[in-house]
Amino acid sequence: MKIFIDSADLDEIKQAYAWGVADGVTTNPSLLKMAVEKRVAKGKKLDLKTYIMQILETAGGTPVSLEVTKTTASTMITQGKKLFKLFNPVAGNVYIKIPVNPAFKAKDKSHFDGIAAIRELARCGIPTNCTLIFTPEQALLAAKAGAGFVSPFAGRIDDDLRGSANLKFDKTAYFPEDGMEIDGEVLHDNGIVSGIDLVAQCVELLQGYGLDTEVLAASLRNTRQVREAALVGADIATLPIGVIADMLTHHKTSEGMEKFTADIVPEYEALT
Ligand code: E4P
Repeated sequence: MKIFIDSADLDEIKQAYAWGVADGVTTNPSLLKMAVEKRVAKGKKLDLKTYIMQILETAGGTPVSLEVTKTTASTMITQGKKLFKLFNPVAGNVYIKIPVNPAFKAKDKSHFDGIAAIRELARCGIPTNCTLIFTPEQALLAAKAGAGFVSPFAGRIDDDLRGSANLKFDKTAYFPEDGMEIDGEVLHDNGIVSGIDLVAQCVELLQGYGLDTEVLAASLRNTRQVREAALVGADIATLPIGVIADMLTHHKTSEGMEKFTADIVPEYEALT
């Protein structure tokens, strides 16, 4: 499974690549806002165009998702093409991130604008990452439209399931892959019992039909979720820097290091 860093913070992105574990980057407008505000708070000036170019260079040819902010098919297509033209020459690694359905309300008529934009960008040879996927059927239509990646939001489905049962929860807390039972019934959203179940069903569906689109498990908030995303066959997991760091952490590893370090004999040290 490929690991992407889910951040627009250049320092975090540089760190993940320096560790040698990053295979790509995902950004979204909220992550970009956080990164911009952090720099401004430090009194640093920000030229956003140059900043994004630095992210693309840091990623060194691995995919970087840049999200559109427009919400109609024609404006998303125009913006997607402009973003691609402006930034892809830097390192040839831009994916345009398009919401699967940009309608704010169920009755808006723009339901299909996301997949229409994906289809047109694919026709022009521009790779896309279809975002805000909450059902396998959304993933299927995005894949048929030609998306390079589909991004099921695992953590947000878990938030929604816990929220629907009025549970108090910490977003980073583990949510069982097989679902959570309340009053004898498993919580579900139209048959989806957890974020990992959503990822698994997207993988099964796309692989079952031999579609080339890769499943990018997004909105992962803890290491066990990452493990489960890998075990159900996600092609990619995009992770905040803290979750990547947590993946290497275990108290027995630290305890073992303390003991081994205390036991080093000087004769052994002297050899090197
Ligand atoms: C990445 O593509 C997504 O935008 C991101 O993983 C969302 O994560 P969140 O639900 O923790 O905000």
